[in-house]
Amino acid sequence: MQTYYIVTMGCQMNENDSEKIAGMLEMEGYTKAANIENTDILVINTCSIRENANNRFFGNLGSFKTIKKEKPDMILAVCGCMMQQEEIVDIIRNKYRYVDIIFGTHNLYKFPQLLNERINGKKPVYEIIKDTSVIHEEIPIKHEYNHKAYVSITFGCDNFCTYCIVPYTRGREKSRTSENILNEVKSLANKGCKEIMLLGQNVNSYGKGLNEDIDFSKLLRRLNEIDGIQRIRFMTSHPKDLSDKMIDAIEECDKVCKNIHLPLQSGSNSILKAMNRKYTKEHYLSLIDKLRDKIPDITISTDIIVGFPSETEEDFMHTLDVVEKVKYDSAFTFIYSPRNGTIAAKMPYEISESTLKDRFDRLIKLQHGIMADLSEKYVGTVQEVLTDGFSKTDKNMLCGRTRSNKLVNFLGNSREGDIVNVLINNATPFHLKGEMLK
Ligand code: SAH
Ligand code: SF4
Ligand code: F3S
Repeated sequence: MQTYYIVTMGCQMNENDSEKIAGMLEMEGYTKAANIENTDILVINTCSIRENANNRFFGNLGSFKTIKKEKPDMILAVCGCMMQQEEIVDIIRNKYRYVDIIFGTHNLYKFPQLLNERINGKKPVYEIIKDTSVIHEEIPIKHEYNHKAYVSITFGCDNFCTYCIVPYTRGREKSRTSENILNEVKSLANKGCKEIMLLGQNVNSYGKGLNEDIDFSKLLRRLNEIDGIQRIRFMTSHPKDLSDKMIDAIEECDKVCKNIHLPLQSGSNSILKAMNRKYTKEHYLSLIDKLRDKIPDITISTDIIVGFPSETEEDFMHTLDVVEKVKYDSAFTFIYSPRNGTIAAKMPYEISESTLKDRFDRLIKLQHGIMADLSEKYVGTVQEVLTDGFSKTDKNMLCGRTRSNKLVNFLGNSREGDIVNVLINNATPFHLKGEMLK
């Protein structure tokens, strides 16, 4: 039996794409290899978001050379966002000639065909296409879990935040029809799936360009009716498009988890303008007030970039101010890194390494303190947890997530996919610990 192994970098979109690659390979009769050393096909699904993602990728490619030498018949395929960057593909073609197949984000569906071309021919197969407006619904998906699944609702992005490469690697924003999404979720529910995570770079603008009367709030309401599904999550929400209608839908749909990922990026109005984010600090804070007024127990997470070109100490203090006011349940913090082809990459850059590090450390310290306080409040409460399996950090414990998306390690005897009640008896900033109640 021929086997495959997929290494996935980057975000949930890429994870979902890797599930599609797995789905196509299984249709062709391949099975998942137990480990990377013993595979017939190795696929690297890349991400372009940060400089160190590039470095890590080329580091990995170098190390795969050894595997290729020992197993010359193994097919090495690289795909994903980095392959939509011409300069990266050029480097691979010139310096990493042992790569067998290169494909991009828009021709994922052709992978089985490209694979056959490589197997039947002598030469490497490279095929990258620029943006296309077609959504390929026919691709089979092999979901990583039975009890929870990613469901993409939009692809691409039209926002062009000045630091971001995603609009270039993923193309223009396209929405799937509500019929296709509802059918996918119904079929997942029939197979026992309990939680869905709706994916889009900006789910709030779902429906744009579709020939039907739909928007994200309506989609949530329809998904909420599907029997079997018990939890609905979604990401990412762009603050500029978060409407009252959508906040109402989150509040009113019982299956929709009271949890939102609302990237701030910066708390400074001049930086937000330079980032082309199209909202102000004041508007952002008013959204948080609205959310908490309507849904008092909502948990909120965010993304923040430190050191965008021209960020001053005063700008940074505005970011800290928002973090202090909002008290995020979690925050992904990034140090700005210029991405080739973006507008921000051409802006002059004068922030020193030591200033960057200092700002980053202050932000992390503030955020970790907030998370410690928030986690502490869970101690003594009973939480509904959807079991994911055994904990990765402590094999004697199970792990899962609360509806508020807190990670919980717990003692008990539930199985993957079981929804159980857990008494929380301990908390760290990053996770809770507890015991399952009978
Ligand atoms: N569509 C989502 C984000 C996708 S990228 C949104 O609009 O929020 C995930 C995160 O990576 C971004 O929110 C941003 O914080 C970070 N990011 C993107 N480009 C970056 C860059 N050039 N440097 C540092 N962080 C970046
Ligand atoms: Fe990038 Fe902005 Fe689009 Fe998010 S909304 S993917 S940060 S361009
Ligand atoms: Fe995601 Fe990275 Fe592409 S964050 S969309 S995999 S550039």
